Amino acid sequence: MPRPRDSRQGNPVPEEDVAAMFDSIAPVYDRVNTLMTAGGDRRWRNAAADATGLGTGGAVVDVACGTGKLSATLADRVGPFGRVVGVDLAPAMVAAAEAAYGDLVQLTFQVGNALALPFADAEFDAATIAFGLRNLADFEAGFRELTRVVKPGGRVVCLELTVPPQRGWGRLFRSSFGRLAPLVASAFGQGEAYRYLPSSLDGFPDAPTLADTMRAAGLVEVGFRRLALGAVAVHVGRAPGPGLPGA
Ligand SMILES: C[S@@+](CC[C@H](N)C(=O)[O-])C[C@H]1O[C@@H](n2cnc3c(N)ncnc32)[C@H](O)[C@@H]1O
Repeated sequence: MPRPRDSRQGNPVPEEDVAAMFDSIAPVYDRVNTLMTAGGDRRWRNAAADATGLGTGGAVVDVACGTGKLSATLADRVGPFGRVVGVDLAPAMVAAAEAAYGDLVQLTFQVGNALALPFADAEFDAATIAFGLRNLADFEAGFRELTRVVKPGGRVVCLELTVPPQRGWGRLFRSSFGRLAPLVASAFGQGEAYRYLPSSLDGFPDAPTLADTMRAAGLVEVGFRRLALGAVAVHVGRAPGPGLPGA
């Protein structure tokens, strides 16, 4: 499969604008998402949680956590003796997450930047980022930062939209997402803000190229699985450590 040569290495939209856009759509984000994905987003987040390999008592950071849906799924996996921290750039997203899931003892949320996480090296057993990577100014630097905060051998999981490999379906997916997202959002008075989301997919690396980006960031045993007829991919890699390739 030929790789697109024009893949972007990061999001060109300034971070302040990204944060302001997500702040503005925070009140409608969950409803628009569920409508746009016909409820599929829940299955995809479950697949991402499975990919962490976490069990009871685990510690995980959910980066670009938004309204906290994946963080809550992870909190369910690790149970009350585990630890989940959701981090997001947009304060209104963090406030929505706190309002929805603030009662779970193992789950906290905070404002923070994926490219400069406020955590020590190797603080977590795993790190996740769901539909967040394509917003970052530098994709490889994002993976490096996720890897830094994970223990050797721990998993870094990225759930993201991707362009299906079949050309016809890929084109159809791109044009329908581009039209559908603003249309659904306009029903909630947010059509303009939602124009950003499909445009953030333009030039986003395809799944094999994204796997290469993860390897370049230092992750090992990198692989990916396509979901939703190839429109979504879950990528997984492990932080290097003793006994792993490249250690
Ligand atoms: C499409 S939403 C995904 C939210 C959530 N993970 C989900 O699965 O629904 C993308 C999120 O990434 C956040 N974000 C964008 N740039 C970020 C950055 N540099 N650091 C942390 N979060 C960021 C946005 O504020 C937004 O909440």
